[in-house]
Amino acid sequence: MTDLPAKPVLLTGASGALGRVLARALGEAGWRLVLTDIAPFPDALPPGARFERADLEDGVTILRLAEGCGAILHFGGVSVERPFEEIIGPNLRGLYHIYEAARRERARVVFASSNHTVGFHERATTLAAEDPFRPDGYYGLSKAYGELMGRLYWMKHGVESVFVRIGSSLPEPVNARMLASYFSFADLTRLMVRAVLTERVGASVVWGASANQAMTWWGADDRAALGWAPADSADGFAGRLAGKVSGDPVEERYMGGAYCRIGYSREEMA
Ligand SMILES: NC(=O)c1ccc[n+]([C@@H]2O[C@H](COP(=O)([O-])OP(=O)(O)OC[C@H]3O[C@@H](n4cnc5c(N)ncnc54)[C@H](O)[C@@H]3O)[C@@H](O)[C@H]2O)c1
Repeated sequence: MTDLPAKPVLLTGASGALGRVLARALGEAGWRLVLTDIAPFPDALPPGARFERADLEDGVTILRLAEGCGAILHFGGVSVERPFEEIIGPNLRGLYHIYEAARRERARVVFASSNHTVGFHERATTLAAEDPFRPDGYYGLSKAYGELMGRLYWMKHGVESVFVRIGSSLPEPVNARMLASYFSFADLTRLMVRAVLTERVGASVVWGASANQAMTWWGADDRAALGWAPADSADGFAGRLAGKVSGDPVEERYMGGAYCRIGYSREEMA
């Protein structure tokens, strides 16, 4: 990581699992970071970073935090399936504040979208980025809304976005599904660097998964234009995890796995 962004970068969700990884890695690489989260930042502040607690629902503060920033890495919000009413505030209204801030600053948004935008596609298929959303819950629906918000701001205001449909970004894969969906922290970090430093990105979609042999679900996307390809892989875990399946026909049929099963009340499988 030699090149540095010309302007500071705002990172939301900085106190969360992925936010902490990115704050450390990008801070160590010399990026000037403005970190924010509704929760306190639990680590030592990286060099060149400042942190301010804020609620994504507070649009005035979000506008102020984004002042002078060239990019917003938007990782804050509800990150798991929750009741609809809990998701609306952070993931819909909060996202609107992020895009309004980006419009005002002429900043780029890198949006932590999710594989749960397409969770109800069957695992036997291979999707291209432009295939239809099939969210597997209110959380996935909020991420699809986020991508559509980004499209709107690109078409209407020229605000660029990279939508990263993150699979499973954990220290290591923990079940058979993640032999496909695992996304290493290092691959994520390298993608963030390309998403910010690539000169023009328009409105790009990238599947956030490492180079896993089992990843046959997610195909064509915009990674080549960003000059990014994953370097890590879950394959070394196959021996240990291949048998770690749920045994549930809904979970195993669809890409979204356990999220498809939450509240599932359909009687037939057809
Ligand atoms: N980790 C993964 O595998 C994965 C997969 C798909 C998508 N994502 C997305 O990546 C992002 C980060 O994921 P994570 O695993 O670090 O989740 P996380 O829950 O650890 O982090 C989310 C952060 O958002 C903050 N937040 C929640 N509501 C807020 C509000 N109203 N105002 C300000 N901050 C608020 C939380 O305090 C938390 O620190 C999320 O948007 C998530 O949906 C993650």
